[in-house]
Amino acid sequence: LDNGVARTPPMGWNSWNTFGCNINETLIRQMADAMVSSGMRDAGYQYVVVDDCWFNPNRDASGNLQGDPTRFPSGMKALGDYLHGKGLKFGIYQVPLDKTCAQYFNSYPGATGSGGHEAQDARQFAAWGVDYLKYDWCSPTGTINDQVATFAKMRDALAATGRPIVYSINPNSIHAKTGPQRNWGDVANMWRTTEDITLAWDTGQTNGYPMGVKNIVDVTVPLAGYAKPGQFNDPDMMEVGRGTLTDTEQRSHFALWSMLASPLIAGNDLRSMSAATQTILKNPRLIAINQDTLGLQATQVSYDGSRRVLAKRLANGDVAVALFNQGGSTVTMSTTAAAIGKSGSSFTLQDAWSGGTTTSTGTISASVPAHGTVVYRVSGGGTTTPPASTTLVSAASGRC
Ligand code: DGJ
Repeated sequence: LDNGVARTPPMGWNSWNTFGCNINETLIRQMADAMVSSGMRDAGYQYVVVDDCWFNPNRDASGNLQGDPTRFPSGMKALGDYLHGKGLKFGIYQVPLDKTCAQYFNSYPGATGSGGHEAQDARQFAAWGVDYLKYDWCSPTGTINDQVATFAKMRDALAATGRPIVYSINPNSIHAKTGPQRNWGDVANMWRTTEDITLAWDTGQTNGYPMGVKNIVDVTVPLAGYAKPGQFNDPDMMEVGRGTLTDTEQRSHFALWSMLASPLIAGNDLRSMSAATQTILKNPRLIAINQDTLGLQATQVSYDGSRRVLAKRLANGDVAVALFNQGGSTVTMSTTAAAIGKSGSSFTLQDAWSGGTTTSTGTISASVPAHGTVVYRVSGGGTTTPPASTTLVSAASGRC
């Protein structure tokens, strides 16, 4: 979406993965404070996104949305001011239909959706200082054409406010399951590619609920052609720093989200991050690959059902290559400079985890542990050519 924002994948934090409905303004402010004190803000994380359960189920007498008076007693504008005062940006959640997911599936009361109120609600968000809207299709029904028409209404309402607002949509939550059928780049800055992520490596799902890290990668890799500045596939908020996944799996998760030009939206409790979690989430070399100004998503160079090689062309002519071992034991993985789109015979490989460099005449190889991902930034050599492109999922037609 060419609305001036999200020229590189948005980076931030979202309340849902760790806190679900248990949110309030004290928690969000603490998270903003931790974003700053931990160095996450300075590493590039900007948006603090308040997910479901922030709202008063009743609109005011003028039909305006309101924050929950108990959870957010200072009001949503005050929260936005607080975030902006910290050098951060304000993200908020809403739905187009009558109920949010918490209203459908949990006990959160009321019905709040923006359907039919798009212009008024967009103006309200802008007045609160909102910089990012997560708009979630939380309904078991609806065709893809319904979704396109409905999501486009809020796109246009946000544009009409004149405020730059990242527009993040979810056509894939509970549960319309439209799947990755469409390039949503004409509608939104980012769009979820699957159902919700969960704290697992592999749930065996291809597009069901819930999705493991590896399953989301399987679905999102073929969508590479959709990504460019202003529009990115969204494989969901990260599970890094939330336990269960091994350190190797968490590193893979972050490395792959970086390679896939995914929005980097942390989902962990920033107030209590371990040193290991911080090392992953603040890795400057992977963040640079993710935030590269070409805005390209890595394409698949090779895949044998277990060993997956991805390459991402970068603005300065370097190419980032990921050697992702999906299998259950350590293997040697190899590709070549030519296969990832480099010409020439002398290259420098920088390991994205250690920062160390080695030289190569063309072979790119590493021993990769089970579920591990080695990433090299490959520089030197001649003009780059794009790595072989993966097949795009055909775009469904739809009114826009
Ligand atoms: C479904 C989304 O996929 C989640 O990320 C979260 O926003 C919940 N809805 C909130 O109800």
